[in-house]
Amino acid sequence: MRFAEKTVVVTGASSGIGRRTAAVFAQEGAKVAVVARRKQELDALCSEVSDYGGIMNAYAADVTDWKRIREVFECVYKDFGRIDIVVHCAGVTVKGPVQEMEPEDWDRVLDTNLKSTYYVAKTAHEYLKRTKEEENTKFIAVGSVGTYLGIPLSAAYCASKGGVVQLIKAMAVEWAAQQINVNAVCPGYVRTPLSEGALKIGQTRQKVLSRIPMGYIGSTDDVAQAVLFLASGQADYITGTTLNVDGGLLSAAYTLD
Ligand SMILES: NC(=O)c1ccc[n+]([C@@H]2O[C@H](COP(=O)([O-])OP(=O)(O)OC[C@H]3O[C@@H](n4cnc5c(N)ncnc54)[C@H](OP(=O)(O)O)[C@@H]3O)[C@@H](O)[C@H]2O)c1
Repeated sequence: MRFAEKTVVVTGASSGIGRRTAAVFAQEGAKVAVVARRKQELDALCSEVSDYGGIMNAYAADVTDWKRIREVFECVYKDFGRIDIVVHCAGVTVKGPVQEMEPEDWDRVLDTNLKSTYYVAKTAHEYLKRTKEEENTKFIAVGSVGTYLGIPLSAAYCASKGGVVQLIKAMAVEWAAQQINVNAVCPGYVRTPLSEGALKIGQTRQKVLSRIPMGYIGSTDDVAQAVLFLASGQADYITGTTLNVDGGLLSAAYTLD
């Protein structure tokens, strides 16, 4: 119960990495506010968690809607009385060569992945700084190996995730004196609806697997555990950095097998 007494906001919690991260926080005693557009999926998660006594509330929101984000944080604060940790996990990709990408698709990816990080962080700051405890408060964003590498057919996604990591570094510097740690996890390939769509294109799955030293696609739990570490008191002196959860992909020029 590492997070008993803590309140955590997790965006993108209706699916994949965000869903698992929210569930693990609840298992570890946190009160969890889950955010995404699909309320039914969030309600299903809240109900699963309540079966074992976990405390979780659902808030339907589009993270590209600045006004709605502010409303959600105000509701969470009213419902739980404090906000200690914010994990911004919502994200999308649109696949295709850059020269064929429609401007609307570019905007959707940049708005959902990058602009929303600014919206959520800007809003979260007011609440995180109110929470004065022995341990620091935490803002954690989700980058990608696409932060660092050029993923084919994913120009907007890579641009957005590169931006997310630059944004968290700048915020980490600005907020350090207020004892708010700002970090990102950068997953490699993890089994979720988002990656399954991408891995199905042509020979992508085999090509990706051949780049991963550990030889397999990761689980949502692999990423959730890294997020929980960065959110914990054990990470109070870690800020402005990224934790890669990628089976070694970003370290490999090539693999032995
Ligand atoms: N899976 C991977 O291999 C991988 C690798 C690197 C990084 N990541 C990153 O990890 C994060 C989670 O991805 P995932 O793989 O778990 O994908 P996923 O299963 O497709 O989940 C994406 C989540 O984002 C939410 N979302 C998307 N657009 C939203 C919007 N406009 N407003 C609110 N919520 C929105 C979705 O909820 P609703 O549809 O209900 O709104 C859903 O909960 C993303 O940032 C992704 O870029 C994933």
